[in-house]
Amino acid sequence: MKIRLIQFCAGLFLFGWSMTSCNQTLKSDPVSLKDYGAEPTVINIDAYTMSNSNFRTALWTGVNLQSTLMSIPVGGDVGLEKHPTTDQFLRIEEGTAQVVMGDTETSLTFVKTAGKDFAIFVPAGKWHNIINTGNKPLKLYSIYSPAEHPHGTIHKTQEDAEEAEEAANQHFFNKNENFMTRELIQLPYATNALEPAISRQTIEFHHGKHLQGYVNNLKSLVQGTEFANADLETMVRESDGAIFNNAGQILNHNLYFLQFSPTGGGSPSGRLAQAINAAFSSFENFQKEFESAGVGLFGSGWVWLAANSDGKLSITKESNAGNPLTKGLKPILTFDVWEHAYYLDFQNRRADQLKSLWSIVDWKIVESRY
Ligand SMILES: [Fe+2]
Repeated sequence: MKIRLIQFCAGLFLFGWSMTSCNQTLKSDPVSLKDYGAEPTVINIDAYTMSNSNFRTALWTGVNLQSTLMSIPVGGDVGLEKHPTTDQFLRIEEGTAQVVMGDTETSLTFVKTAGKDFAIFVPAGKWHNIINTGNKPLKLYSIYSPAEHPHGTIHKTQEDAEEAEEAANQHFFNKNENFMTRELIQLPYATNALEPAISRQTIEFHHGKHLQGYVNNLKSLVQGTEFANADLETMVRESDGAIFNNAGQILNHNLYFLQFSPTGGGSPSGRLAQAINAAFSSFENFQKEFESAGVGLFGSGWVWLAANSDGKLSITKESNAGNPLTKGLKPILTFDVWEHAYYLDFQNRRADQLKSLWSIVDWKIVESRY
């Protein structure tokens, strides 16, 4: 297809048209600012960036990537911040800026001036800020990987963005919840009680070896760090590297093991049932989408049902130790799709394992998290 287009344009050139006039025949649809993710999308990003006058507008939110548009008023800035596990790309479409980055909030040793058509790459873990030093709004767009803000985010002003961030940073869970312990949880059922969905042998390895390993690792990792006395939710929100991986795996497994019961199964009721119907049309459709998200997750990770601050539900896929908390979403239900969760019982048949887990979900417990 690419070759045909070039031939077509070259043909026009022979008849006295220039390549420029060929390019000018490209017309994009009128700008309509909304979140197009995660649908196939082709837009004129320059036109969209220039049309945006909100501090932040989410333009495309997918599973592993997000693009947002930003308009920074004269004298304003993006805000000094760091994304522990997210790389970021930004491109300026109009205006002049000073870009600063550094390893701590007070040592921003990287300083550059940037303007129209400049790209800015921010590595995960770097403190950074972009200050509008020009005399008109600074128009830029940003790409995060993975997504940083909930789907559909609009922050009209920087104050709105700060309020949203503060709300996202508030704890969802009470420190005294049983799944918030950093010690190995006691299972509220016998190791063979979940059979045939999960065998005794899998529970013994998964809980007794794998989870115990994460508990042991975290204990030694946090000694002498700012997370020495932090709760699991704080570590998942604020740490990175090995502490994040082990704290995430403990919280994820605690939520996983404690949502099951030998008398589970059936379907949810009350507010959660209504929210599932609103988001997924029906409980059966939700189950189908949840299973296919789990099957479609490449490698190791977790599939989640999560709620935003308005209670709206969504399914998220998280790689490795990921948890929707890092996107400002409250985790409600999770299925573990690491092979260690099912290989002894189902070998490579991940889809069969996911299907079987519905028979042991204790919806009363899941409803209490919503
Ligand atoms: Fe696991």
